[in-house]
Amino acid sequence: MAGRPITLLALAGGAGSGTSTIGRALAERMPGTAVVHLDDCYHTDIRLAPTVPAFDGGGRIVDASDPRSLDPARITAAIGRHAAARLIVVEGVFALALEQVRLRAGWRAYVEAPADIRLARAALRKIEAGRNARHVLRGYLERGRTAHERHVAPSRAHADIVLDGTCPVPELVERLRRLTAGRRPAGPARSAGRAGAAPSADR
Ligand SMILES: Nc1ncnc2c1ncn2[C@@H]1O[C@H](COP(=O)(O)OP(=O)(O)O)[C@@H](O)[C@H]1O
Ligand SMILES: [Mg+2]
Repeated sequence: MAGRPITLLALAGGAGSGTSTIGRALAERMPGTAVVHLDDCYHTDIRLAPTVPAFDGGGRIVDASDPRSLDPARITAAIGRHAAARLIVVEGVFALALEQVRLRAGWRAYVEAPADIRLARAALRKIEAGRNARHVLRGYLERGRTAHERHVAPSRAHADIVLDGTCPVPELVERLRRLTAGRRPAGPARSAGRAGAAPSADR
């Protein structure tokens, strides 16, 4: 697919803001849309990433609250697998924190939701998937909360559009559908130095 610019939407937001749900719903709504879940792109070899002690005492694990734990090669490969897609949504907490994703994106979106709602949603999702509730809550207090403040919340400044993650999913999908259907980006991101740009509020 050489020469064909990849049309990429970076979709970031704190854990529990709804980026995975919105990404999936957008792909259902817009045929030809593929989704790359950054949660699937972490290093698997603990020698290659920052690590933290496992809560169950089982040695050390890759620190999922550190953007350096994402494997650039896995991200590139995941995007490359969808080279024929009309739109690739790259979603996850660090979608706007990672230059590798941000600078390739034609559109950058951030889903904002209050911390209590995000925590409740993310904890429920993990506990219902079988994770230990104590570990989930310790993970938030000892790692997730700081990671959000340090890496995720500041990345909002890179967004072209900020969505209210408490709105119904179909509404959010429609906003993104209109955004990506209207203007087609000329190419990758305009520049790296957008941290001071004021994104449009959505409330
Ligand atoms: N806009 C929304 N309104 C209500 N519930 C939502 C919304 N977005 C996500 N959820 C719910 O919150 C939980 C976490 O959503 P998820 O997409 O996994 O979050 P993230 O990927 O941002 O961590 C899921 O159970 C999902 O159904
Ligand atoms: Mg997710």
